[in-house]
Amino acid sequence: MIAVMLMAVPCFAGDLDGTWVVRDPRPDGTSRNTYLNLKQEGSLITGSIRVTQFFYKIKESTGGPDGFTVTGSMMDGHNERQVKYEGKLVGDELHVSTRRRPEEALTEMVAHRAPAGEGALPARIEPPPLHKVPDNGLAKTPPMGWNSWNKFAGRVDDAAVRGMADAMASNGMKQAGYQYINIDDTWEGMERDAQGNVTTNKKFPDMKALADYVHSKGLKIGIYSSPGPNTCAGYEGSYGHEEQDARTYAAWGIDYLKYDWCGARNLYTDEEMQAVYQEMGDALRNVGRPIVYSLCQYGRAEVWKWGAEVGGNAWRTTGDIRDSWDSMTKIGFAQNELAPWAKPGHWNDPDMLEIGNGGMNDVEYKTHISLWAILAAPLLAGNDLRDMSPGILEILTNREVIAVNQDKDGKQGRRIAKSGEQEIWARPLFGGAQAIGLFNGSGEAAKITLKWADVGMKSAPAHVRDLWRHSDLKTKGGEYSVEVPAHGVAMLRVRK
Ligand code: GLA
Repeated sequence: MIAVMLMAVPCFAGDLDGTWVVRDPRPDGTSRNTYLNLKQEGSLITGSIRVTQFFYKIKESTGGPDGFTVTGSMMDGHNERQVKYEGKLVGDELHVSTRRRPEEALTEMVAHRAPAGEGALPARIEPPPLHKVPDNGLAKTPPMGWNSWNKFAGRVDDAAVRGMADAMASNGMKQAGYQYINIDDTWEGMERDAQGNVTTNKKFPDMKALADYVHSKGLKIGIYSSPGPNTCAGYEGSYGHEEQDARTYAAWGIDYLKYDWCGARNLYTDEEMQAVYQEMGDALRNVGRPIVYSLCQYGRAEVWKWGAEVGGNAWRTTGDIRDSWDSMTKIGFAQNELAPWAKPGHWNDPDMLEIGNGGMNDVEYKTHISLWAILAAPLLAGNDLRDMSPGILEILTNREVIAVNQDKDGKQGRRIAKSGEQEIWARPLFGGAQAIGLFNGSGEAAKITLKWADVGMKSAPAHVRDLWRHSDLKTKGGEYSVEVPAHGVAMLRVRK
């Protein structure tokens, strides 16, 4: 008898049905939207939760309009990500709360009914058949410049970009070869205009004027977008507007595009990436302005094998770098196998520099740039160029190390020896020279010995230059030993 009564109680009317939006305003005038797309049948709630570009399918629910929880899940590569929301209908508002991170307190939000269609995943556009995008002839040596993300993330604005251009043009970086001032995510407006043109948000009032300013300093300017409907930070992507956006960039005077997979993951598989990236590669080729094309899809789908085919000048080979010794070395020392794919115009990109951001010491930052030089990686400074110590500026502008990075043969270096936490890498350079990095990964100073035979030399080479001490070394015999500080590097340029 009791059991029957209990079963009869949960009878809700489906009041939660529909799409609910939480608008989380940002200082740039846009908002970070969360959509709860709910279908309620009795005590079962199904549907999806969209947090910017991430779509989670609801897989568990309890309760109903008077108080419910829903758990959404999505696969991100091989990892499952989950979100959990608690909620309650209050009049015509849906009061919801979630933990943005497991360790954080609940964030409480109010959701309203969204206009029909808003927040829905757009219809899928079939990717084009594959072909080879003609080479744009750019980036014959790895691109050098600055990118806003590592230091500023969502706080980058017009004034900061101008400030970086001023700094780069006057502090010696431009003379050392740095050229691009690249705006990463969060410059975009929330919506396109009536003609479908991409718009900026209030942090970037006039992109053309900003590009003109950067050009007036003798520098170039870069921008960021996604092949998906949304970028990683939840801003407008180029999905379905590739040619139109390429034309807009050209009209603004943009010289470099970083194109970040992010929101495309909800529409396309990894197998379709090449075709999707080809679309923007073609669009950029067709606008009649030289624009460096930088692919950012975290090294998935063996991008090094097809990045050049889609017109890519560089392709990220890893997930995001962080400003820590562990992150930098985990990424940097894992690039060995990719060496054959780097060549003039087409580079492996182990992500932007963290030099000067404070999470490592100067010895470690020297290791960072030395390794990136040997890897023929793009050198995109990621710190605040207006405000850095002389030591950091010296690291970023060590011309002898930069010359290794910019070597015109464009061959990426490889690991030639490893013993415990010490490893030696060598990069072949123009004219038969070589750059050699002796890296000490240990937390204690260590003596590292290089056998000349390991770099194909029968005896000590005639020319040995220490690129951090800026001095020529006299060496004899079959090997060279040097004391390298904890987490440090000795970097040499040698020639017979
Ligand atoms: C991804 C990229 C980063 C940066 C952010 C911006 O995480 O890998 O380099 O562009 O998106 O949202």
